Amino acid sequence: MATLKEKRTCGQRCEDFGRFVWNSDNGTFMGRTPEKWVYISLYFVAFYVVMTSLFCLAIWTLMYTLSPYAPDYQDRLPSPGVMVWPDTYGEEDVEISYNSSNKASWMKMSNILHTFLEPYNDTKQLECNNYNCTKGKYFIQNTFSAPHHTKWACPFTQSMLGPCSGLEDPTFGYNCTMPCVIIKMNRIIEFLPSNHTELPPYVNCTVLDGQANVDKIEYFPDRGIMDLSYFPYYGRLAQPTYVNPLVAVRFSLVGEKHAKIQCRVVSDKISYENFHDPYEGKVIFYLKAVK
Ligand SMILES: *[C@@H]1O[C@H](CO)[C@@H](O)[C@H](O)[C@H]1NC(C)=O
Ligand SMILES: *[C@@H]1O[C@H](CO)[C@@H](O)[C@H](O)[C@H]1NC(C)=O
Ligand SMILES: *[C@@H]1O[C@H](CO)[C@@H](O)[C@H](O)[C@H]1NC(C)=O
Ligand SMILES: *[C@@H]1O[C@H](CO)[C@@H](O)[C@H](O)[C@H]1NC(C)=O
Ligand SMILES: *[C@@H]1O[C@H](CO)[C@@H](O)[C@H](O)[C@H]1NC(C)=O
Ligand SMILES: *[C@@H]1O[C@H](CO)[C@@H](O)[C@H](O)[C@H]1NC(C)=O
Repeated sequence: MATLKEKRTCGQRCEDFGRFVWNSDNGTFMGRTPEKWVYISLYFVAFYVVMTSLFCLAIWTLMYTLSPYAPDYQDRLPSPGVMVWPDTYGEEDVEISYNSSNKASWMKMSNILHTFLEPYNDTKQLECNNYNCTKGKYFIQNTFSAPHHTKWACPFTQSMLGPCSGLEDPTFGYNCTMPCVIIKMNRIIEFLPSNHTELPPYVNCTVLDGQANVDKIEYFPDRGIMDLSYFPYYGRLAQPTYVNPLVAVRFSLVGEKHAKIQCRVVSDKISYENFHDPYEGKVIFYLKAVK
């Protein structure tokens, strides 16, 4: 019975293991001939080389198709939204209501506009955007010729807003019944607002309610035009000094001095009848002055 399971001494086990590592009888190392080991090593070398190159190829392809200057997925609709300043909200809509004889009231409005216009400061703009843009046509840039591998951006200065610039009248008309509002269109990367270069987008404000209370609507710059040289926008990294073109609108309020206004940016590629996005292409607000 004892021979069935032969007791082996420790020395025998070590000898067995030694023979497994190097068997001099048939010249195998760890059970395989050196020649086989070479083939096995070559196989794994080749395997890993192929795996690594596949990985590198995948990463390279990904990087190649990504542009560092534009996000890959833009969840915005292809038509921009429009906003109005002062952006003071009432219950749910923008309600620009003020008391022209109360300094604190008109100061609140003019401070919002002064703060909003800070990036448009003339000295600042002429410093960081000193490129001489050609007005009236798209500023297409295929190269990064501005300093630090960026693209040029056209200057838009506060003084282009004329009487609504806050320079001549720091109250922006809120100390009387001729308040200015500022209309801004959101940026969309590489968006061209118009099909043909003769027709730049422009702001058109209409009175929806209280027609009799609005005597006159004036636009600055002239005709409420957003010059084509501010388009296309190439993104924050490509155009770090870009500023949106603005349009200021001045309303002369009479009578009861309140009205519901709609300002639309009119252009063939800007839609404004999106039921799901009331701010697409237009903004609606209430304007109310008291004394
Ligand atoms: C507007 O402000 C003036 C001065 O503070 C005040 O006398 C007047 O009652 C205010 N008007 C309204 C409608 O609140
Ligand atoms: C524009 O900036 C300059 C320099 O920073 C400053 O002196 C000037 O008051 C600013 N202008 C306005 C209207 O804020
Ligand atoms: C910008 O270009 C216009 C037209 O080419 C030229 O009349 C004007 O002098 C230029 N301004 C500057 C500052 O280079
Ligand atoms: C409003 O302010 C401007 C500029 O400070 C001034 O010229 C104008 O007379 C003021 N209007 C009223 C009604 O106080
Ligand atoms: C672009 O202009 C062409 C002709 O000028 C016109 O047929 C086309 O409908 C326009 N496209 C858009 C999106 O307005
Ligand atoms: C502005 O919009 C109104 C209403 O849609 C329209 O009657 C008017 O012709 C437009 N004005 C311009 C200059 O497009």
